[in-house]
Amino acid sequence: MGKQRVLSGVQPTGNLHIGNYLGAIRNWVEGQKEYDNFFCVVDLHAITVPHNPATLATDTYTIAALYLACGIDLNYSTIFVQSHIPAHSELTWFLNCITPLNWLTDMIQFKEKAIKQGENVGAGLLDYPVLMAADILLYNADKVPVGEDQKQHLELTRDIAVRFNHQFGQGETILKLPDPLIRKEGARVMSLTDGTSKMSKSDPSELSRINLLDPPDVITKKIKRCKTDPVKGLEFDNPERPECNNLLTLYELFSGKTKEEVITECQDMGWGKFKPLLTETTIEALTPIQTKYKEVMDDKGYLESVLAEGRQKAGAIANQTLEKVKKALGYSVSI
Ligand code: TYM
Repeated sequence: MGKQRVLSGVQPTGNLHIGNYLGAIRNWVEGQKEYDNFFCVVDLHAITVPHNPATLATDTYTIAALYLACGIDLNYSTIFVQSHIPAHSELTWFLNCITPLNWLTDMIQFKEKAIKQGENVGAGLLDYPVLMAADILLYNADKVPVGEDQKQHLELTRDIAVRFNHQFGQGETILKLPDPLIRKEGARVMSLTDGTSKMSKSDPSELSRINLLDPPDVITKKIKRCKTDPVKGLEFDNPERPECNNLLTLYELFSGKTKEEVITECQDMGWGKFKPLLTETTIEALTPIQTKYKEVMDDKGYLESVLAEGRQKAGAIANQTLEKVKKALGYSVSI
């Protein structure tokens, strides 16, 4: 039996932060030898909220370069850009026509983002999860490694696939049901300024997140100013101390130590001692990524060739699924 397939993606909206890295990309890298991997830059999703046309292309390259810088290895993985493959938009249309509207209005992320948009909320934002379902289903993905916030979208993807197969499969599985791959540690990295809310690209405060490309002095400043509490000693999993749990988890993940090792090392520490330790560990973990990122960005030709190859490989698989879907729907198909 061949390897199982993995598909995941990140939007080219703003800077990637350590939540995106620890919740998603790090897990892609760690599991990549085990799977046949497809990682896309989801630039069609990026325009579901107001975007800047002047930076979209550069932001897309930045994310692709960061995938490579974080350790995505082309021997095991394919990197591509969502908008390069028209099958994503096309399958979205087909799936739209079988997705009940109330499934979409029930999505937590839609509700949260729609509130922020007010009256300007576009139909694309409502449709965001159907496009995501198309991304996944086109590749017959077995596993989708994401952060905790995407769990509901994965459930919707499965529901859409079940509905499609039931309505049009005639007993055959046309669209494969994917499983989410959500690692407990890092699945929900919290804001540095409020341990009860998720670290997010859209938080207006830069101090709330550490970006993968933040230089050491910025990381130092952000950790120095991050929210803590007046309790003595440090501990995991105390619901009264969300900031403490979040910062210790960051230390655990960036240091590569086990939770037990972190408890032994840090339980008697005060913030004055812990913050510099976390700062140094974070900088040490991010520096190699930043160095590699610069190398990749300096060689635009290489990056373009990676994406061109990705487009070919991913496009071939996506088109096959699209043809199967069209045939099942009753369209006359050319292959
Ligand atoms: P995006 O760009 O918003 O997020 C990218 C990934 O980062 C994870 N993430 C977090 N993980 C832990 N803590 C956080 N604070 C945090 N913030 C974000 C997200 O869960 C995600 O895994 N809808 C997807 C993009 C997408 C996609 C797909 C993913 C489009 N098509 C197909 C998988 C498969 C998203 O959230 O992007």
